[in-house]
Amino acid sequence: MRYAVLSDIHANLEALRAVLADCRGEVDGAVCLGDLVGYGADPIPCIELLAERAVALVAGNHEYGVTGKLALGWFNSYARAAAAWTAEQLDVDHRAYLGSLALTALVAEATLVHASPSRPDEWEYLITAEEGFDAFSAFDTRLCFIGHSHRPAYWSLGATGPVWGSGAFDIALESGRRYLVNVGSVGQPRDRDPRACYAIWDRTARRITIRRVTYDVAEARRKIIAAGLPRLLADRLENGT
Ligand SMILES: [Fe+2]
Repeated sequence: MRYAVLSDIHANLEALRAVLADCRGEVDGAVCLGDLVGYGADPIPCIELLAERAVALVAGNHEYGVTGKLALGWFNSYARAAAAWTAEQLDVDHRAYLGSLALTALVAEATLVHASPSRPDEWEYLITAEEGFDAFSAFDTRLCFIGHSHRPAYWSLGATGPVWGSGAFDIALESGRRYLVNVGSVGQPRDRDPRACYAIWDRTARRITIRRVTYDVAEARRKIIAAGLPRLLADRLENGT
């Protein structure tokens, strides 16, 4: 059984289509860790593609923002402008769908959560070694997949000691060890690599592998500018920041 694990799509339809094409025929399903919308110009097509393809989805802070569960004052000015624009695009059904997403979900031996398994609705960023290792007491499954920082990374705890890595990785899942894995961002990578980022979780081969996929950044940028969204949201896609 193999899953594509996707997070932080952020209404970037070009990136989402490229990722789904990249793993087509290779995976049995996709799971989504939230932030389907916000920043990009295609919220509705992205919601519809993910609702159709994903076997499990959880809410991110952008779903909470556009459905009124999180005050927009929580966001920086660019995210706030994008959330307000996105909220205007959504009809009742799409808003209700995003509002129905839970903060956590279980798929096989994995917990899915957008930000942190510890207080998922406080939207903490797990970036450093310490921040990741501290979160292990907040989930009881063997694996926990997260997004939110838009940077791929993993943390592992077991009898032979802690292991932590960031950037692209391809790890073998060892028995007796537990793992916290950030799968990076499909639609707005922030690790200075502009390619779309996601993970393949191969339960049979017991591996998790980060994949990077080239997509039509120019078209995604053009749509963001045409929609009147902040120009910075278009420009950052070019250099992955
Ligand atoms: Fe995000």
